[in-house]
Amino acid sequence: MDQQTQARIASLSDQLHQHNYRYHVLNDPIVSDAEYDRLFRELTELETANPQLALADSPTQRVGSDLSLDFPKAPHPAPILSLANAFDAADLANWEERNLRLLPADTELAYVLQPKLDGLAIVITYENGVLVRAATRGNGELGDDVTANVKTIRSVPLRIPVDRAAAAAPARLVVRGEILFHKESFLELNREQEAQGLPAYVNARNTASGSLKQKDSRETAKRKLTAYIYAIVDSDGAEMSSEWETLQFLRVMGFNVIPEARHCAGLDEVIQTLPDWEARRNALDFEIDGLVLKVDQLALADELGVVGKDPRGAVAYKFPAEEASTKLVGITIGVGRTGKVTPTAQLEPVFIGGVTVSNASLHNYEQVSALDIRLGDRVVVKRSGDVIPYVIGPVTGARDGSESPILPPAACPFCGRELIQPAGAVDWFCSNPKCPERVMRTLEFFVSRGAMDIEGMGPQTIAALIDNGLIEDEADIFNLSAENLLALEGFADKKVENLLQSIERAKSRSFTQVLTSLGIDGIGATVAGLLGDNFASIPELLATAQAIRAAEEDFAEAARPLVDGADDGDPDIGKLLHRLRHPTAELAPRYLDAADLSPRLERLLRPLRLAPGDIAPIQAPLSALIAVSRPLHEIEGLGPILVENIVNFFADPHQQAVIAKMEAAAVNMRAEEKVLASAGLAGQTFVLTGTMSVPRGEIKSLVEANGGKVTGSVSKKTSYVVAGDSPGSKVEKALKSGVPVISESELRALIPG
Ligand code: IVH
Repeated sequence: MDQQTQARIASLSDQLHQHNYRYHVLNDPIVSDAEYDRLFRELTELETANPQLALADSPTQRVGSDLSLDFPKAPHPAPILSLANAFDAADLANWEERNLRLLPADTELAYVLQPKLDGLAIVITYENGVLVRAATRGNGELGDDVTANVKTIRSVPLRIPVDRAAAAAPARLVVRGEILFHKESFLELNREQEAQGLPAYVNARNTASGSLKQKDSRETAKRKLTAYIYAIVDSDGAEMSSEWETLQFLRVMGFNVIPEARHCAGLDEVIQTLPDWEARRNALDFEIDGLVLKVDQLALADELGVVGKDPRGAVAYKFPAEEASTKLVGITIGVGRTGKVTPTAQLEPVFIGGVTVSNASLHNYEQVSALDIRLGDRVVVKRSGDVIPYVIGPVTGARDGSESPILPPAACPFCGRELIQPAGAVDWFCSNPKCPERVMRTLEFFVSRGAMDIEGMGPQTIAALIDNGLIEDEADIFNLSAENLLALEGFADKKVENLLQSIERAKSRSFTQVLTSLGIDGIGATVAGLLGDNFASIPELLATAQAIRAAEEDFAEAARPLVDGADDGDPDIGKLLHRLRHPTAELAPRYLDAADLSPRLERLLRPLRLAPGDIAPIQAPLSALIAVSRPLHEIEGLGPILVENIVNFFADPHQQAVIAKMEAAAVNMRAEEKVLASAGLAGQTFVLTGTMSVPRGEIKSLVEANGGKVTGSVSKKTSYVVAGDSPGSKVEKALKSGVPVISESELRALIPG
């Protein structure tokens, strides 16, 4: 027995050390917090029951640490404590009862209740009102000094009080808070990733942590992090008597205090509001994993003291877990309309946060192999809000050797064609455009709500139409006749009439909907809308894409002698060749503003050791390519990868045929005429940079509503650069090229009315 326990203790210690390191140092955890807690609890229990077996280096002997080697260390003025957990109303009642026993009879406790933010803790020091240091929690006593990075976070005041008319700042104030992404900022970050053709971030908390621990604070500044401040750690000259007063004081100083914080007269009131919080949880701007309940009277909280590393006067109420572990019993393989192959985990059913889950996303095979997820593994699954549950990672300690690796299939399970993995991609694709599964998915997408929205055309109808040879692609839908449909089994007069009517209505969908429905990789409604702002019609966009393809071919022809002779094996040269082979995405956007191409090209191509005169032949084709692709590259919010996707899509003869058929069937191809508030900015082009008084998208709409254009880069055609707070390099560029730089209010003054 002892031996078994000893082995289990060793194994648990080992696993926890690993998880600690992955979480705190690598910022790449493979188990959920709940799973970690479960292992930690098991180890604590075994050690308590068998103190003689506890290891000297047991992870229970210290609190976690997020220290990294990249930052100098900063000591905290007082230990940065953590909180004990409560999971239900009974836990809270017991907690209060234990506290009351330590306090004078007849004590009545009031409380402050606030959301427990799922971010990372930060400790910020102000001396005479000036921010002098910011540190992570670290090991509770010593943190990473991340001052430069925290200073880039706009909700953190660099000087307090922010409002000079407010009370004076204390001589010293050390506050504690939490850094996180607002849900919208995280989505926006992922939209930007997507527009650049980069993989999406999965976990907001880890991304926030990674963002805060950048070595270069300019990288942190690019991420829209937010800080909420909820406590005073230490002070000279800010003596508070209650928690509630503390929050008011922090607010007066100009800190971002969680607006949802509530004062409760007693525990009954707290308990009554719990169901409400759980219901509101998904509607909040930020992710929370529970609530923090603190005794309001600070003198009483002080008297209660600390047990271990947790103050008795506060407790974390954890919402029911949204993560659980279960067995991975199988994999199903899906093929999407682009041919992308996605593995889905089949699970032994498990109850997570109120729902039974038996399938979960595994993202892609690259991720499966990076996380070393194996068939038969016990895996941790997370479910949050409306997103599809996904596998976080395996519980490696639960393996018994019977698990087997998960590999991508050799061929498409639907059509048998070989799968390909494009260079640099994480996904595998079915290479057959006529693959029945791909056709089915394409049509399902085409008729769906966000696309052509054809009512009455569900998966069964689509399958029946394909099986009976009535449609082969999406455009055939518009050539269906009553006669054809009535011949199908189960299609009566009324049904056929309704279906034909909804098909007729779909012909007048907006430009955005029609373009979205084509299913160009990465082009959803937002990007389609941007294209609609800049192109009059789909044929116009198609013509541009075809002109780009033609210019690409001329360029490839001219560049062939350079590419053919080069050594592909050398990594530097390989990178250069990649650029030469993808000039639309890799070269044109870099040289949009170049006054003279030849010195830039010479510098770029130096590693190829060319003879003088070798560069001349590619210069004119590149200029031509830049000119034809400029209308796409200048659209703010459209990254180079998406431009390349657009060109590839429209160059495909199959897609050209589909579009021609749709056009012949009178499907709308035109962008809506914009109704202008004024034409005051007509003919003028603006570049926006820095933070404005409202989101930049709003300023862009304002410019456009008055007839102006907004582009992403400064060129000879730019009329003005509009600079907000902390503008980027665009201002320098403008000054260099003599483009006037104006402020937001100067821009507003240009608008009539
Ligand atoms: S108060 C003495 N309030 O949760 C403890 N903590 O499990 C003071 N947290 O490490 C903490 N939101 O980083 C407090 N509104 C909130 C919080 C909060 C999140 C974090 C904090 C702490 C952990 C405790």
